[in-house]
Parts: sequence; structure tokens; C-alpha cells
Amino acid sequence: MKAIICTKYGPPDVLQLQEVEKPAPRDNEILVEIYASSVNPHDWRTMRADPFLVRLMGGGFFKPKHQILGVDVSGRIEAVGRDVKQFKPGDEVFGAVDFGGFAEYVCVTEDNLVPKPSNLKFEEAAAVPAAAISALQGLRNMGQIKPGHKVLINGASGGVGTFAVQIAKHFGGEVTGVCSTRNVEKVRSIGADHVIDYTREDFTKSGQHYDLILALAGYYPILAYKRALSPDGIYVMCGGSSAQMFQGLLLGPWISMTGNKKMVVLSAKPNKEDLVFIQELLEAGKVVPVIDKLYPLSEVAEAIRYLEKGHAQGKVVITAGHESKI
Ligand SMILES: NC(=O)c1ccc[n+]([C@@H]2O[C@H](COP(=O)([O-])OP(=O)(O)OC[C@H]3O[C@@H](n4cnc5c(N)ncnc54)[C@H](OP(=O)(O)O)[C@@H]3O)[C@@H](O)[C@H]2O)c1
Repeated sequence: MKAIICTKYGPPDVLQLQEVEKPAPRDNEILVEIYASSVNPHDWRTMRADPFLVRLMGGGFFKPKHQILGVDVSGRIEAVGRDVKQFKPGDEVFGAVDFGGFAEYVCVTEDNLVPKPSNLKFEEAAAVPAAAISALQGLRNMGQIKPGHKVLINGASGGVGTFAVQIAKHFGGEVTGVCSTRNVEKVRSIGADHVIDYTREDFTKSGQHYDLILALAGYYPILAYKRALSPDGIYVMCGGSSAQMFQGLLLGPWISMTGNKKMVVLSAKPNKEDLVFIQELLEAGKVVPVIDKLYPLSEVAEAIRYLEKGHAQGKVVITAGHESKI
């Protein structure tokens, strides 16, 4: 099968399209023919070992432990192992895998997959898993979102942000999305009640206070975020600049211990239950994937180059050479 192989850490040039052995499912595994995948910041962080912590946290110290990146997949089941109960060959599925998404086939367990909503194309379904689950876990698990909460999403126009706006609305939040001028209408169109253009206004100085802030992009000092929280508000650091991430990790716990405002860091972990939750929102039309660009499998490096610039408008999707079947 064709796959994008990453044999050493570095810029997107390290990624090579190669012919490799097609995987065979073990007894508890499912062989999925991948129709589409999508790129996430996780992919370029793993590819570059950025931050260095990637090497220490199981990514492989000298070179990538797993040579095929890609954590989102959608496709059709080609074969199942003898212990697999919930799926059969021919089923259309989507889900989150640990690695192996930038290929024509991948072997996964039942826990990685759910049926693809029939109202979504494969490339739409592939845009969903990692980003939507991160948004869900950031808002619900870490942010404890409640109906009526004033929720601010900094980075509302990106892969995670476009899901976060819609999921926060589903939970009954009053949502403010922060993005640049060209994305204001897009963020409004997916349901944000208010939109702040960060090129014109600094929300941390507006005097407004939020019950929940989800930080996905850019940089504000952690004390600026704290200032923008309501008295018992929660700040969830999900992404953004390295400085934003390190302040969240190092100072967040201390600030949380010394007052009512909580400053926490998200470490999203896909699981079947959350995937099912998202699947139901997709089927009900309450969440709709926003797709910026499509690239063929052979151009994963180009897709990652684009994503790394930090200005994708929604998700960047990979079609795995099966366009005719989509
Ligand atoms: N902690 C976790 O478990 C976890 C899980 C998933 C993702 N993440 C992290 O979350 C972050 C977001 O992921 P993503 O997939 O949404 O990334 P993305 O798609 O690359 O985000 C791009 C978006 O960020 C916006 N943006 C850039 N600079 C901004 C600024 N200064 N203020 C507000 N928005 C700005 C861009 O809008 P403009 O073009 O309008 O600037 C663009 O729409 C990444 O850092 C990722 O590593 C963390």
C-alpha cells in the first residue's frame, strides 16, 4: 500500500510517499481502507519533535517510533479479526487512531471506530475525531461548561475552534469567538453569539469577564487570561504559542491553588464514548465540520506546511487516493 513515511525528525521534507507492506488485522483488529484523513498540529509537532518533550514521551528519542503519522481516519472496513463483534466488512466508519492515518490502510481496534454518519462525506468525517474530541474534552471535562456560561474561544476559526464554537453552543453557552478579520463572518456563521477581531481588540483589556476561556491560538500572558475570567471562572489552555503552553503548565496550578479562578491544561485523549457523543451531534446536524482545504495523500507534506503556518480556516483534509469512491 502507499503511505507517507517519516523516518527522521525534521521539517515536512522528511515525509516520503513510499510503497510499504499492507497491514494484516490481528484477532481483535479491524483493517480499514482509508478514504480520508486529516492533519492536526499533533502531526507536525511529532514530525519535528517540537517540543523536545515529544522524544521523552514515547515518540522515540532519536527518530520517530511510529513512521506513519496521522490520527484521524474515515473509510470502509475491508476485513475483521475473529474476535471483532461490532463491525463487519463493508461498514463505513470514522475514528481516531494512535498513528497510521496517512496511508491507504490501517489496522485498529473496535474502540477506535464508530459508524460514519450517513449525512457526512468521508472527507467531512475525517475532519472530525481529534479536533472535535479536543474541543469536547476542553469545554466539558476541563472547563465544566454549563448552560448560560459566558464562554470565550481564542482561536475560534481553526480546526479545534470551529468545533468548540458549535459544541459550546450545544451545551447552552453564550459564545464569544476570537479570530482575525477575514474569519469574523465564518465564526459568526457557525453560531458564535459575539466575535472579537483580535487585530482590532484585545479581549483581555475589554473589561468583559468569562466563565470559561478555551485558549487555542496566539499568546496572552496567563495573568491577562486570569484578568478576563469571572470570579470563579476556568481557563483551559489547549494550545497556542510555546510561551502560552509553558505558562499554563508551570503557573496554572499555582494560580489555581491561590484563588477561586482555575487555570488548567488540556491533554485530550480520544475515546469511544466521546466519539459516539460527537457522532450523535453530527447526525443531528448540531455540529458541522468546517473544511478549509483538501490534499491528496501524496501531498501530506504540503498540507502540513500549510497547517504549520497557523492560519487554517477549519480543518485540512487528506484524501487517500480513493477519490472515486468518496
Ligand atoms: N492540549 C491538547 O490536548 C490539544 C489537543 C488538540 C489541539 N491542541 C492544540 O490546540 C491548538 C489549536 O489546534 P487547531 O487544530 O485548532 O490549530 P489550527 O487549525 O492550526 O489553528 C489555526 C487557527 O488559529 C487562528 N489564530 C492564529 N493566531 C491567532 C491569534 N493570535 N488569536 C486568535 N486566533 C488565532 C487562525 O485564525 P486567523 O487566521 O484568523 O489568525 C486559524 O484559524 C494547537 O496549538 C494544537 O497543538 C492541543
